[in-house]
Amino acid sequence: MSTPELRAQIIEAHQSRYATKSFDPTKKIAEEDWETIIESARLSPSSFGYEPWKFLLVNNQVIKDDLKGIAAGAVNSLNGASHFVIALARKNVTIESDHVRHIVEDVLGVDFAIDSPRSQYFDNFQKNNQQLTDERTLYDWASKQTYIAMANMMTTAALLGIDSCPIEGFNKSNVEKYLSEKGLVDLNEFGVSYMLGLGYRNEPITPKKRQSLDEILEVID
Ligand SMILES: Cc1cc2nc3c(=O)[nH]c(=O)nc-3n(C[C@H](O)[C@H](O)[C@H](O)COP(=O)(O)O)c2cc1C
Repeated sequence: MSTPELRAQIIEAHQSRYATKSFDPTKKIAEEDWETIIESARLSPSSFGYEPWKFLLVNNQVIKDDLKGIAAGAVNSLNGASHFVIALARKNVTIESDHVRHIVEDVLGVDFAIDSPRSQYFDNFQKNNQQLTDERTLYDWASKQTYIAMANMMTTAALLGIDSCPIEGFNKSNVEKYLSEKGLVDLNEFGVSYMLGLGYRNEPITPKKRQSLDEILEVID
C-alpha cells in the first residue's frame, strides 16, 4: 500500500469510528480480530511501563443483564455488542507496591530495590513532578493511562471494520460494589475506569461534528 493510500485508510477508519448506539446482536467479532484488538491494548504505552490496568471481557449473560440496571450508558452495548470490555485501573501504583516490583522484576527483567536510581526517579516523578500523593490522584493517574488502551482498541477495531462505543455512563461506586460482590474485582487493587462495547452497527453512521483544526491546534514557531 502506498503512503497516500495508508493515510486515506487511517482517516477513513477515524471517520467511520463513531459511538455506536445500536449493535447487531447476530454479528460476532472473529476471534482473530478480537485478538488483534486486545493485543493493541496490551501493547499500549504506560508511564514507566508499569501497565496499571486489567481488562475484563464479559461474556456472562447474567452479569451483562445485571449491569444494565447500573450502567445506563452501557445498555446499548450490552444489548447487542459482540464483545463487552470493562477496563480496570490499578490503585496505589508506587514504589512500595507489589505491582511495581512484579513489573520491574518479571516483565522488565531488572532487579528491584526501593533505593535503586530507577525507583527513586519514579518516586520523585510521582511525588514532586506530578503530585501523585494520595489514593485519588494515584488512581486518576492510572485511569488516564487506561484510556490510551481504549483509544488503541477503538482505532484497531475501526481499521478492521468493527464498531465500538466508549462508556463512562455508569455509577462507578455501584458497578464496583457489584463486581466486588461477584468476586470479579478486588477493590483494594482496582477501580472501574470505563467500559467498551465492540461489534457491528445496525444503524447508519453518525456524521462527525468536530471543531475545526484552527480552533484546536496552535502552532508555536
Ligand atoms: C470517555 C468517553 C465516555 C463516553 N461515554 C459514553 C456512554 O456512556 N454512552 C454512550 O453511548 N456514549 C459514550 N461516549 C461517546 C461520546 O458521546 C461520543 O464519542 C462523542 O459524542 C463523539 O461522537 P462520535 O464518537 O460518534 O464521533 C463516550 C465517549 C468517551 C470518549
